[in-house]
Amino acid sequence: MPKPEAPDAKAKPEPKKKVKNDPRLVAAARELRDRWLERVNGDPSALLSHGKYDVRKELVAPEYEVMPPGDPKVKRPCLPETLGLIGFHAVHKTASRPQWIWTSFEHVKNVPDKDEVAANKFDGRYNFFKANCNGDCPTPNATPPQPWDPDPALQLRFRKDDSFKSQIVRETPLTDAAKNMNKIFHSMLQGTVWENYMLISTQWPSAFGCTSLHAQSLDAPAPKTDFLKQPDMNCSPAPTYLANSTLETYSQGDIPLASSSCIACHGNAVSFQMRPSNPKPGEVHLNQSDFTFMLEKAQ
Ligand code: HEC
Repeated sequence: MPKPEAPDAKAKPEPKKKVKNDPRLVAAARELRDRWLERVNGDPSALLSHGKYDVRKELVAPEYEVMPPGDPKVKRPCLPETLGLIGFHAVHKTASRPQWIWTSFEHVKNVPDKDEVAANKFDGRYNFFKANCNGDCPTPNATPPQPWDPDPALQLRFRKDDSFKSQIVRETPLTDAAKNMNKIFHSMLQGTVWENYMLISTQWPSAFGCTSLHAQSLDAPAPKTDFLKQPDMNCSPAPTYLANSTLETYSQGDIPLASSSCIACHGNAVSFQMRPSNPKPGEVHLNQSDFTFMLEKAQ
């Protein structure tokens, strides 16, 4: 994992004793979301032999949104499997960026950029793109056929007919700045598994004045980031879109309101407001989930 950064330059100096409700505790908030690939390219030895993936032995319990009809006794299988890390998001919140800072990383061998595909410039084999297909190349970034009726008996195979193959391409090539950053960090991480992972980009709220607007309610707990619907709660995310080829595979690109924007989508967790069944007139119901769906689900 990346090392914790220095505290935000604009954060106030540390008060000596105060611990409870200390905004700096929030300033250090950090979350991860990761995506694991069951045996790279279907070849279990690939993971273990070249040591290029962060590898875990896990129990996998596939989550079925819709259980097969008719048999309430069907249990979710719990399967031992060796997994390799293919992508992860790391987000952190600072005192001056209550919209959080959204960073995404991928394994370097996942997919080529669309520019690389256009130039026929490939770098060996990829996890989700077959460079040397001849004539039978699947359409890039085509979504699997719908509907998906999961069958627990298939265990980790998603469909009986698994002839559909995805051919994934990165829609937004890395910027030169991101490539340069990767070069610097890869030289520092040489010899570790992390030199095989790269930064895709970082999305951050770029309108500085906007980020210092806090909840207008005097009752909001410090650091008052429970927004009471500001005009632009997202404070101009830059870049406008950000997607990881393994986590937002099918919503890459730059189509307004459709393509992946971390802040815009996670902003939905802020604007969702739970109300008690017997609300008092005039009572304000601030949402506590703060750009994270995990906290929104917490009971
Ligand atoms: C279309 C909506 C959407 C987009 C776009 C999106 N996410 Fe998420 N993200 C989610 C949902 C929904 C969850 C919760 C999934 C669950 O609980 O299983 C989640 C989970 C997470 C988590 C785990 C913490 C949490 O909130 O539950 C992190 C960290 C995260 N996403 C980061 C990112 C980053 C970084 C990006 C941009 C590269 C991004 N997300 C883009 C919807 C989105």
